[in-house]
Amino acid sequence: MIICFCNNLREKDMATAIAEGAQCAGDVYKHHGCKPQCGKCVPYVRDAIPSGCAAMTQVAQ
Ligand code: FES
Repeated sequence: MIICFCNNLREKDMATAIAEGAQCAGDVYKHHGCKPQCGKCVPYVRDAIPSGCAAMTQVAQ
């Protein structure tokens, strides 16, 4: 399932990033060499991270 349409990130991509150490939503995007565009997926990505991440509140324009 695609999580981020702007960056074509799938659920498995997010899981891989988390398994390899992503600790916040920003880390997930960085892991795949991208950053949020529209930001609609950010809450979902943030919720998927066990430790949570309050730092990723700004969306790249
Ligand atoms: S859907 Fe992920 S940034 Fe737009």
